[in-house]
Amino acid sequence: MARRIAAKISGVAGYVPPRVLTNADLEKMVDTSDEWIVTRTGIHERHIVDSGVAASHMGAEAARRLLAQKGVAPEEIDLIVVATVTPDMLFPATACLIQNELGAKRAWGFDLSAACSGFLYALTVGSQFVGAGTHRKALVIGSDVMTSIIDFSDRATCVLFGDGAGAVLIEPAESEAEGILDFHHDIDGSGGCNLFMPGGGSLHPPTHETVDKKMHYVHQDGPQVFKYAVRRMCEVSSMLLERNGLTGEDLALVVPHQANLRIIRAMQERLGIPDSKLMINIDRYGNTTAGTIPLGLRDAIQQGRLHRGDLVLLMAVGAGFTTGSILVRWA
Ligand code: UT7
Repeated sequence: MARRIAAKISGVAGYVPPRVLTNADLEKMVDTSDEWIVTRTGIHERHIVDSGVAASHMGAEAARRLLAQKGVAPEEIDLIVVATVTPDMLFPATACLIQNELGAKRAWGFDLSAACSGFLYALTVGSQFVGAGTHRKALVIGSDVMTSIIDFSDRATCVLFGDGAGAVLIEPAESEAEGILDFHHDIDGSGGCNLFMPGGGSLHPPTHETVDKKMHYVHQDGPQVFKYAVRRMCEVSSMLLERNGLTGEDLALVVPHQANLRIIRAMQERLGIPDSKLMINIDRYGNTTAGTIPLGLRDAIQQGRLHRGDLVLLMAVGAGFTTGSILVRWA
């Protein structure tokens, strides 16, 4: 049965830092090539922060742009949910730092950790409070400074990620027909060992030894994650469409998590989605983890590809493993 939430996305904004790291730059840093990166991942360049810029700064900037665009005062925000795996620090929560930066004095909030599915999980959680009628305006933010946890001497991971943030405003849906029509999320903890950052938490608190062993960086079994991502992106999106009596043809836009162009193409083929209905921006940003989906929505709007009444499918697979998918009637 569909899990409808009586809430809608009423605005979208994003932020990527101005500094660009190209494949040519990476060729000078590790044993890689533009040709390998482009053919294996679809990435041409990514944006990276300068030192001193953290997840809260990017998330707050995306939120400031959103509030300005919507003409909403910070004091009108009731709730801030931040998806991130690269919080400024373990505590306080990035949501508290952003609340303070924005001056959103009435809002409460918290962080949520679900890696690349984080934004979709946060969107679901934030929307539930609005759909229940207890909150009127929720900010849902995905922000990750992936370069803060990447080993720039490891060619297998350093070419994949970039930094970026996106923010959406959630408000009550005005009719049954608009907003979040359905969602499906699941986790498979047996996949945790395939993509993780072992150091810095309570299991391996930071020591000289954890740093020497590079435990504070992303560790990934790329091919295992790849296989899982292709399989689950296809299964979950087909299932969500089927249970709503829809096919790929009914969709106006698909905004998938941007981890690898080959994963996106496999899902595209399986669902029979034409290029015109598929959002791809991995070429310019790489994998920004919690940032990819709001940045995809922002770019789709800027390109005039997203209109009121459109049926939109959002989907992601990430570390955990986590899987997320949401079906939205754009309002
Ligand atoms: O968003 C979170 C979820 N993450 C993902 O969805 C990532 C999923 N995985 C992937 O996207 C892909 O597995 C990767 C892009 C990470 C790797 O692509 P692959 O086609 O699976 O390559 P591979 O790991 O099997 O490596 C193939 C070869 C290896 O060399 P040998 O052993 O065949 O000689 C690697 O050492 O490519 C080599 N290689 C590189 N060569 C040049 C790995 N990284 C690089 C590189 N440049 N940057």
